[in-house]
Parts: sequence; C-alpha cells; structure tokens
Amino acid sequence: MKTYIIGNWKMNFTVGESSLYLHKLLTKLHFYRDIEVIVAPSALALQPLSLQTNRRKIKLAAQNIFYRDYGPYTGEFSVAQVRSLVDYVIVGHSERRHIFHESDKDIKLKVAAALRGGLTPILCIGETESERTFGETADVLKDQLLGGLADVSREELSKVIVAYEPVWAISGHGSSAVASPLDVADVFVLLRKTLKETYGPKLSAEIPLLFGGSVKSLNAESYLSLADCNGLLIGGASLIFSEFNDIIEITKQIKND
Ligand code: PGA
Repeated sequence: MKTYIIGNWKMNFTVGESSLYLHKLLTKLHFYRDIEVIVAPSALALQPLSLQTNRRKIKLAAQNIFYRDYGPYTGEFSVAQVRSLVDYVIVGHSERRHIFHESDKDIKLKVAAALRGGLTPILCIGETESERTFGETADVLKDQLLGGLADVSREELSKVIVAYEPVWAISGHGSSAVASPLDVADVFVLLRKTLKETYGPKLSAEIPLLFGGSVKSLNAESYLSLADCNGLLIGGASLIFSEFNDIIEITKQIKND
C-alpha cells in the first residue's frame, strides 16, 4: 500500500503564494513509487495549480465539496466542477464538522458524491477533547467511520482513505496537546478491527489509515513507524516549506522509496 503525505493548507496562502510553494516543491521532489504527495490548497488556487502541477509528482486535493452536482447552492462547488482539477477531496474535516456544523449525514453524502465523480475521499474522523475525557472516543470514532462509509458500496471501499485526527490535537485552536504514538496505535487497531468486522479482512486491509494532528518533522517518524500507519495529514507544518519537505524526506527513509 502507498504512503500518503498530505498538506492541508486550510484558509492560508494567496493564489500567488500557493503557486510559488508548488513550484518549489516540484523542483525539489522526484517521482516516488510508493509515496503519494498531495497538497490541498484553497479552492481558488485549484485551477491554476492543476495546470502547474506534474501529477506524477504531486497531486491536488480539494478541502471540501458539496454533494449535489449543480444548482442553487450559493458559495458551494460540486464534484462535477472540481473533478478535472483534483484527484482527492478531504471530507468531514473536524473544522467542517465543528465550525461549519456539517452533520454525519452531510459527510456520508459527500463521501458518496466524491466516489460517484471519480475522486478519492479522505474521510476525517476524530473525537473532541470532552468526548475523550468522558471515555467516548471509541464510540465516536466507530460512528463517524461507519457513518461516513454508510453509502459506499463494497466495490468502492478500496478507493476511500481514512484519516484519524483527534480534534484536541489539531494545531491552531488554542491547545498545544499532541497525541502519543501509543494512543494513535490503539486507535488504528480499533479502526482496523471495526472495518474488519463490518467489511471482512480483505476489504478492510485495503483502506489506508492516516494520522493527523500537530504532525511536524520532529514527530513524523513516531507516527509513520506505527504498524498500521499509511500516511499523514499535515496542517500547520505543511505551511512551512522546509517542514513539509523534511517530512517527505523522513517518509522516504522510513518507507525506503
Ligand atoms: P495540524 O492540522 O497539523 O495543524 O494540527 C491537521 C489538520 O487539521 O488536518
């Protein structure tokens, strides 16, 4: 299975800054057989960056989509509108769930819409700090995982990526907490077990599990070396070119690409 290194730029960088960053990254990176490097710029930058990028080296992701194909949905864009620009779309990021009040139903529909349009959804799941404090982590994660996949057929399942991002460990929201690799390992076991019980061993083994939440070059190895970790979703550190580049280098060394 490939290792996915994804930079989620969130609402940062102008189109010009995004283009400059991509240019630097394209100059630096080679083609890696087993490492998929993906950046998720703002929606405004997707069109120019799609013309600029070399998809063999760096692929693009949208940070969000709406699940309808077209129509009176002010401020939204559809899979049909973005599918020629990107290969991936992030769905259900905790900022979408908690700041923009996306429901499990919205997320399920978005995952299905992405697949219908030929995009790979990166389904984000994660417990909040209070859910963790009250011992609800396992239930929340199972609900978000199976809820997000509820409309996915068995044939489509291997095209989904799952990213575990504990909300309390995501940078930029006032807390400096980080998840310990041991805790992340436990969650990966839970997720793989849940997938196995629901879809059987073969299909469940085909779904990449990523970690995200305050990942930096300093701690990337500790997560990447976990047995079941198939990649990283990186927010804040991906905004710093040297950090993102170092994480890719570390991944190359660990995965021997
Ligand atoms: P962070 O964000 O790396 O800044 O914690 C990760 C994410 O929200 O995807």
